[in-house]
Amino acid sequence: MVKPALIVHGGAGEIPQSEEADYLTGCQQAFEAGWHILECGGSALDAVEAAVRAMEDDPTFDAGVGSVLNSVGEIELDAMIMDGATLNLGAVAAVRGIANPITLARRIMEHTAHNVLVGEGARRFAEQIGLRLCSQAELTVPREVARYREHQQAVLEEHGGHDTVGAVAIDRAGHVASATSTGGIAFKMPGRVGDSPLVGAGAYADDLCGGASATGHGEMIMRVLLSKTATDAIARGMTAQEAAEHAVSILQDRVQGKAGVIVVDRQGEIGFAHNTPRMAVSWRTPGGEIRAVIRRQRVG
Ligand code: GLY
Repeated sequence: MVKPALIVHGGAGEIPQSEEADYLTGCQQAFEAGWHILECGGSALDAVEAAVRAMEDDPTFDAGVGSVLNSVGEIELDAMIMDGATLNLGAVAAVRGIANPITLARRIMEHTAHNVLVGEGARRFAEQIGLRLCSQAELTVPREVARYREHQQAVLEEHGGHDTVGAVAIDRAGHVASATSTGGIAFKMPGRVGDSPLVGAGAYADDLCGGASATGHGEMIMRVLLSKTATDAIARGMTAQEAAEHAVSILQDRVQGKAGVIVVDRQGEIGFAHNTPRMAVSWRTPGGEIRAVIRRQRVG
């Protein structure tokens, strides 16, 4: 039997001090939602879905309710879930009016012959299978409306807004799963798709080595397949921590991107690294303590 493990992230970016407490609480609650499942013998897939759903429901994060607004003041969501046992995955991109895109992604993986649905087609499938639909207004929080108004003309890189959420787990059976969900980057063009729903970029999972979930500037993350780069590094013999640091160093060296990544290997060791100013993460130490931290830049 394998030692189960879970790590969640609440995004990598600026993380204003005034929001630190909410990030820490939100990450820890998401961790606990996923860990409860693993502790009871549940699957890594259920655990990462539950952890990400918790953050989609939490208005602190740029995923589900609380997502950033695009250049026309609307919310379009991306998400992906991946099963390391089968390498199957489900993803949605630029979908509107869905409270929990990670669950929609999982249903696509498990109940369709496809892997990725976008926009109106994804929403129609959600309706068919009885997932909760919601209005744009229900996903929109005053914080993001204020940011939108303040920064309407600002340059994206200055504002950050890379608060994508994600989770990676391994269960007692040794199965690995990864999940990532986001509202994307603030003021993005309508129809823009980031790294989060792209396999190998926003997430990857393979029982043979481990799993990863990324957060940060999607246009750069996808160029180096950040999550696959991390899991490939484990396959070549690196520890989870070394693999996370290696992936971020490739991102930095090759495309000067800003991002973070969380990793779990098949031994249940966890790692994370980022070259953004901050990254919010929660995991369980080998001694059983649940940690939630906002880590300042370590790599870069
Ligand atoms: N990493 C989230 C995005 O760029 O959309």
